[in-house]
Amino acid sequence: MAVESSEVLARLKTDRERHLEELKDFLRIPSISTDPDYRDDVLRCGEFVRQNLEDAGLKAELVQSAGYPLVYAEWLGAPGRPTLLFYGHYDVQPPDPLELWRNPPFEPTVEDGRVVARGATDDKGQVFAQMKAVEAYLSTEGKLPVNVKFLIEGEEESGGESIEQYVIEDGGKRLACDAVVVSDSSMYAKGQPSLLYGLKGLAYMELKVKGPSRDLHSGTYGGAVANPANALCQIVAKLRDPDSGRILIPGFYDDVLPIEDWERKEFAQLPFDEKEYCEEIGVKETFGEEGYTTLERAWARPTCDVNGLFGGYEGKGAKTVLPAWSGAKVSMRLVPNQDPHEIARLFEAYVHSVTPRGVTTEIRFLHGAPAVEINAEGPMLEAAKKAQEETWGKAPVLIREGGSIPIVGTFSDVLHCPVLLVGLGLPDDRLHSPNEKIDLENYYRGIETIARLLKEAGDVNGA
Ligand code: BES
Ligand code: MN
Ligand code: MN
Repeated sequence: MAVESSEVLARLKTDRERHLEELKDFLRIPSISTDPDYRDDVLRCGEFVRQNLEDAGLKAELVQSAGYPLVYAEWLGAPGRPTLLFYGHYDVQPPDPLELWRNPPFEPTVEDGRVVARGATDDKGQVFAQMKAVEAYLSTEGKLPVNVKFLIEGEEESGGESIEQYVIEDGGKRLACDAVVVSDSSMYAKGQPSLLYGLKGLAYMELKVKGPSRDLHSGTYGGAVANPANALCQIVAKLRDPDSGRILIPGFYDDVLPIEDWERKEFAQLPFDEKEYCEEIGVKETFGEEGYTTLERAWARPTCDVNGLFGGYEGKGAKTVLPAWSGAKVSMRLVPNQDPHEIARLFEAYVHSVTPRGVTTEIRFLHGAPAVEINAEGPMLEAAKKAQEETWGKAPVLIREGGSIPIVGTFSDVLHCPVLLVGLGLPDDRLHSPNEKIDLENYYRGIETIARLLKEAGDVNGA
């Protein structure tokens, strides 16, 4: 029986108002995992998720860890049927710059069919869609077509170390499943669902350039001692060739697998409007590595970018000072077969080799994760495709992404099952930016997609 003929979809329609109000409650909790000042809020948010899953009828607990607790929940009332493990995160990025928000980031506002708040799409709206789909099934039918587990973390935005350790220690015992379902990404375009088969990895570095033991008068000492801020800029300028867009760190590309012909063809067939792309983000033109298209650069070529630069006088007016130190945060986005630790080592060696005289550099590797590539075949992938097609009236396209979800690689290594990357957001959701939003249509259809996926996955293995 198709999910259409069940009560579930009808229930989803009548429950829309409540689904929105509950999402707003979730969004009101400022669960910023990277900022220790918000510790209590992050903890409160984990408990909110646990309680919500318990209210839905699952056995739900907080799993304590070295960092923020994981929410684990399960409903195992369908013996002989497949098991799905749902993943998402309840923490969010910091909201700054605050002055660019139309409304305070933790006071969700509905404008034009969208909910605007930090975390609306990354990832509260998406993980909540998973939760509401399961809840709707249990409340209408008293059971689910599959067994269900949830593992929801509170540290994804700050490196996700606790979940990594938990999954490795578990080794696939409690977490055993037939597929992992991750909703923490975007559809290809409005009305065009997609299945994601590749995520980039990451090596995140912090760089500190040190000079004199204190800030100095820039007149008295300027010209006579090396300036760490100047030196930092010199180093940064040597990371990437300004013409070809290639990264200049020796060995950086050694392990990179070339983009395959079939992928280049697939990417080229996707509707992509370079002009619209530029307009949406407010740039005149794109820039990237020679010989590749915008989608190829963003999805399948490694990068090295400054994420922040600091040091010296940043206040109002002029202060004539030669800074004692200067620093940068640098992210290198990796593609399959690049090892984050090896890349971090190459970065460090190169930075030392190009450090100008008169200063010293200190480098820290903040966190890393390898890229993932998923084999987009098999009955569970087909189930996800069907669920999306039934919801949107269009078959999903296969895409890759430039973002990282560190735990995905560990899931596929440890649990030996397909990972379904079913993104429910849109590319213009402004994740990590001011005025982040989720379209209500996407939120509601996201819930429907997951409801249909539960049904379709239940039919896998002829059960
Ligand atoms: N949900 C994103 C990752 C993402 C974004 C996947 C867009 C696909 C499309 C996730 O929350 C995220 O921001 N990840 C970080 C990882 C990091 C903090 C370790 C990232 O990619 O910067
Ligand atoms: Mn996310
Ligand atoms: Mn994020």
